[in-house]
Amino acid sequence: MKAIVVKPGTPGVSIMDRKEPVPAKDEILLKPLLVGICGTDREIISAYYGEAPAGEEYLTLGHESLCVVEEPGRSSLHKGDLVIPTVRRGCGECWSCLHGQSDMCFTGRYKERGIKGLNGYNCELVAEVQDYLAPVPSGLGDAAVLTEPMTIGEKAIIQSISLQQRIKWDCGGDFSCRKALVLGTGPVGMLAALAARIRGFQVWAADRHDDTTLRARLLSSAGIKHFNSMSGSIEELSRTVGKFDFIVEATGDAIVGLDSVPALAANGIMALTGIPGGAQSYQMPAVQIMRSIVLNNAIVVGIVNANISYFKTALMDMVEINRRFPGILDKILSHRFKPEDFSRAFSIRDSDVIKVAIDWRGA
Ligand code: BGC
Repeated sequence: MKAIVVKPGTPGVSIMDRKEPVPAKDEILLKPLLVGICGTDREIISAYYGEAPAGEEYLTLGHESLCVVEEPGRSSLHKGDLVIPTVRRGCGECWSCLHGQSDMCFTGRYKERGIKGLNGYNCELVAEVQDYLAPVPSGLGDAAVLTEPMTIGEKAIIQSISLQQRIKWDCGGDFSCRKALVLGTGPVGMLAALAARIRGFQVWAADRHDDTTLRARLLSSAGIKHFNSMSGSIEELSRTVGKFDFIVEATGDAIVGLDSVPALAANGIMALTGIPGGAQSYQMPAVQIMRSIVLNNAIVVGIVNANISYFKTALMDMVEINRRFPGILDKILSHRFKPEDFSRAFSIRDSDVIKVAIDWRGA
């Protein structure tokens, strides 16, 4: 079967023939339909990140997928069911991994499909056990491939709400008295902004573009205020509209993230979801940042990966997003490429390119 692969440690990406998986007794055979591309894939292609399975030279890329059941085996699924597989497989040793929370692994000895030690979904067939598959509700269609990036914002919101139980944070049933700011309008940022919006937050989303881009127009159609950070700083924004109770960092830029800490309101929380690459060092207003964390009782929390529970919530929230803002998710899935056009798929960049996916149908 065809698979899009990298040779970890060597920059580049290619397509090659790989052996088809033979499902074990408890496994289901799945056909990937769409596989999304994200910054982590680009880091792996640049050889900054990524690990092949033990004893293999190549890693099949892809961790954001929408699959269809081909052979359900002994599971309760049926041929033709649509499912979203999760990414991380636990270390099998620590409390978190043994209790369904591999996203909170203590040992770091977890594996991740398409990223670290396990082959991913950019290929014609994969085998997986039912515990790692979230069923797709009817009506979502191809937009369901956005589930994995959506889980990151879901986890940021769910964990932030849970951490904020230290105070009265809700506004009597929803979060309409709270201001949220999302830094970055890539797929993770846009989906996090929508997840905050359907919970009632007043939401701002910042990027480096003006209001005419597709992403800015989509955000504003969902009642999210767009801020062009080329026209002013986050500090200036917070002086105009007030400080933010909740900030989600989704640019992966360490300066953007840490510089925005002083924009947090009293008792605010900032969830960092972007993973900065490279090894830049720079000067930071460390005193101002630390003082504002302490004097505001602020929380700065790191958010990585998501277990199956966030996939299930993300799918439910995506149904609600589609109900409230029809068609918005289909537009976030802005570009699709055939597997043989992988080179263009991994390199295309433009302000109107939001989520790019490889379409394996007909491969
Ligand atoms: C993925 C996560 C993964 C992280 C680190 C992200 O792109 O969405 O599932 O845990 O990379 O490998």
